[in-house]
This record gives sequence, C-alpha cells and structure tokens, in this order.
Amino acid sequence: MAEEQERRFGFACDHSGLCARSALLWTSPSKAAYWWSAASTEAPSGGDGRVARPMTYPETMEKNMQTASSGLDGVIAAETRLSHVDGLRGRLVIAGVSVEDLAPNASFEEAVYLLWNDALPTAADLASFEERLAARRRLPGAASRTLHDAAAKRVPPITALRMAAGTLDADQPDAGTREQAESVLAQFPVIVASYHRLLAGLEPLEPRTDLGAAANYLYMLTGMEPPSDRVRALETYWNTVMDHGLNASTFTARVIVSTRSDLISAVTGAVGALKGPLHGGAPGPALGMVFEIGSAQNAEPYLRGKLDRDERLMGFGHRIYRVRDPRADVLSDAAARLVRSAEFEETYALARHVEEVAVRLLAEYKPGRGLQTNVEFYTALLLHGLGLEADFFTPTFAASRVAGWLAHCLEQMESGRILRPESRYVGQVNRPWVRQDERA
Ligand code: ACO
Repeated sequence: MAEEQERRFGFACDHSGLCARSALLWTSPSKAAYWWSAASTEAPSGGDGRVARPMTYPETMEKNMQTASSGLDGVIAAETRLSHVDGLRGRLVIAGVSVEDLAPNASFEEAVYLLWNDALPTAADLASFEERLAARRRLPGAASRTLHDAAAKRVPPITALRMAAGTLDADQPDAGTREQAESVLAQFPVIVASYHRLLAGLEPLEPRTDLGAAANYLYMLTGMEPPSDRVRALETYWNTVMDHGLNASTFTARVIVSTRSDLISAVTGAVGALKGPLHGGAPGPALGMVFEIGSAQNAEPYLRGKLDRDERLMGFGHRIYRVRDPRADVLSDAAARLVRSAEFEETYALARHVEEVAVRLLAEYKPGRGLQTNVEFYTALLLHGLGLEADFFTPTFAASRVAGWLAHCLEQMESGRILRPESRYVGQVNRPWVRQDERA
C-alpha cells in the first residue's frame, strides 16, 4: 500500500491498519498534504524526510474534522488478496477468479479451498479437504443444548445461530487456528439445519459424512437426499456470497481478531453484524415486499408509496456498486435453472417485474445515486425456490459467508496490527461539574 501511495500522491504513510493518516491520504490527498507539512523536526518521520507536525489540542480537533468519513466511506482499512469488488464496473473477483466463472462451476469446498489457500486444489487436495470438513460436522454438546433452549423460546433462527456460534469452542478450547476454522466452517450449516428441525418440533438429523456440505445441509433440512439441481443451485449461491471485500460483518470479524482475540469470538460478532436489515438481513424483507405487491399492476403504486414515505427498497442499493451487482445476475441465472413449481414460476416472473419497476423508480426518486439491484434480491428468490422460509435466508447466507470471515481473520492475524479508528468529538467541552444535590 505504501508504494501505491508513493506512486499516486508523491508521499506515503508508513503505517498499516486503519490509520487516520493513511485513510486521509486515500480519501483526501490535498488535506493529507497539509497534514504532512514539514513544520517541525521533532515529529515522527514518514521515512522520506517529510515529517508530521506535533499536534496541539485544537489541531487535533481540526485533524478530526478532516478525517471523519460518514460510514467509513472510502477508507481502506486492510489489504487483502481474498476478493476484489469493482463497484464502478460491476465486477467481483474471488481469489483471482471472476464470480461468473467460479460460482456455477466450483463445488463449495473447491471454492473455499481456493479462497483459503490462494490456489485451486488438485483432486487429492480437494478430497482430503472434503474429508476433514465432513469429519468435523458434529456439534459440541453445548451448541446442541443452546439450540434446544432457543427453539423452546422460538428465538429467531439468525439469533439462535449467533448464540450457538459462541459455543463452538466448548469441546476443543485449545484447537489450532486452522483446525478450528475447518470445524466452524463445517458446523455453521449443521447449526442452521438442526435449528430448522427443532423449530418444526423434530429432532435434528445426524450429519452425513458421505455428502458434500451443500448436499448435507439440504439433507439435514428435509431428511431427503437432495436432487443434484438443488445441490448445484445452493453451491452456486454459497460460492457467490462467500466473500465480498470488507463488508460490515467481515470488518467486524477482522476488528475482533485484530485485538488477538479468537476465531469463535470473531464469527459470533460477525453474525451479529450480518443480521441487520441493511446488510445480510435484507432478503427476507425483499421477498416479503414481492409477496405484498402480489400482482404486476400493483408494483408501481406500492413502490411509489414506499419511496414517497422515504422508505428503503430492500434488495436495492449498495455501498460499493454503482451499477448492477454482478452477483444478482449469477443468482438470477441459477434461480432460472432450478426445476421449479408453477407457483414459483409466478413469483419469479413477478419478482423480475418488481425489479424493473424498482430500478426505474429509484432512478427517478434518487437521481445520480446509481441505485441498482443488489445480491439480496435474487438471494431471496433462489432460497425461496429451494424451499427455505424467509427467516432462514440470512442464516443460510451466514453458512457460506463464514468462509470469508474465517479467511479474513487468518489474513488479519498475519498482519498483527490492531484496527483502531478514531472518532470525531462533537460533544460539549468545559461542562462544569455540579454536585448531585445541586442539579436542577
Ligand atoms: N431504497 C431507497 N433509497 C435508497 C436505497 C434503497 N434501497 N438505498 C439507498 N437509498 C438512498 C438513500 O436514502 C440516500 O438518499 P439521499 O442521498 O437522498 O439521502 C442515497 O440513496 C444514498 O444512500 P446511502 O445511505 O448513502 O447508501 P449507503 O451506501 O450508506 O447504503 C445500503 C447502502 C445500506 C445497502 C443501502 O443501499 C440500503 O439500505 N439498501 C437496502 C437494504 C439492502 O438491500 N441491503 C443489502 C445490501 S447487500 C449486502 O449487504 C449483502
């Protein structure tokens, strides 16, 4: 990163991690130049003779004013080799392979191997990885008990996943990091499928070791060995969403391990971040919206009503993409290939119409914002086509994204620097202290 900064701006920050100087350089080079001014020789040097001035209190405030970035927009907080999101061209590359090539062709295990090892596996590597993952599926007793308790209280599935995730080191607190990563990856879908059964009043099924992760997930949900087109659809979905730059939940996971905390804490926190409706919680509401609209002629008045009330349309807009999310196309194709019922055909056709109207109205109501369909819209449709209920969409997403969280954690652990941004103080200064009995 330092070389890139040097090349682009003529000077570089020697820090790694979420450094204000570095962030400022990327987001506002002219302000950064001011901050790099060589007024004092007492301040730490950037390594090139240019030095930062020591800051007095008002200057610190001024620096704070300059670096505050709403929603951390444009801040580069990590270097990664895992995935690249090009929001202007609508491209996503996972460990060097485009999502369009990877998602419909690789098995889930093959794609995770690529993500974790930065290389496509040989047949022997893949077989050994699949075998290790299959052998690690069984949940610790603490996780099973947590799920039983949660089901008795009808806790929402994503919350139950977060609760159970926190127990995954109960049986093996001292497992090596890589071994623990494999266990977590293997166990996430088992947690979700087990909870699905428990909510239906059924005991969870034993995971099977002769099936791949996606087939085993579908088997544990339904009790039936799934047909290959359904397995393919789920693998395509999981491959599509396994990693996506420094999204909110991935950032959460990286912050947690940057303190030298552990993988279980990181994935538990990441589930918490994912569940919000602005991030991974969108597909349920997106499908709910399609159902509420109900018919093609109702789409425009319904969507106009929402936009008139300044409400957000779920499944549209993205922090990074200013064009259509490439994952939406991959998933729309995958949904189209699923063998479907007549009822699903109707929902699919309606969803396509709703999408068309929504994109048109977003351009009218929010001109210039580049609001397009995001991955969650077709996630909803695909998972609905696989027979999942809306409250299992986000947990099913998590069963794949956990591969990305873990990969980022391993990468962050190598970097070693704590992620610690700054805040801009906007509160009162010099508030007098008043004794309690003298307060009005
Ligand atoms: N519907 C209506 N208006 C929208 C939408 C939307 N879906 N998304 C953004 N806008 C509007 C905002 O109101 C804002 O308008 P303004 O400039 O008049 O104030 C403008 O577009 C810019 O929005 P921001 O809030 O700056 O966009 P941001 O990058 O912060 O948010 C987000 C991105 C959270 C994804 C947003 O587009 C959104 O809320 N979408 C709906 C929820 C959703 O689908 N989330 C899933 C994202 S994909 C994922 O996380 C896996």
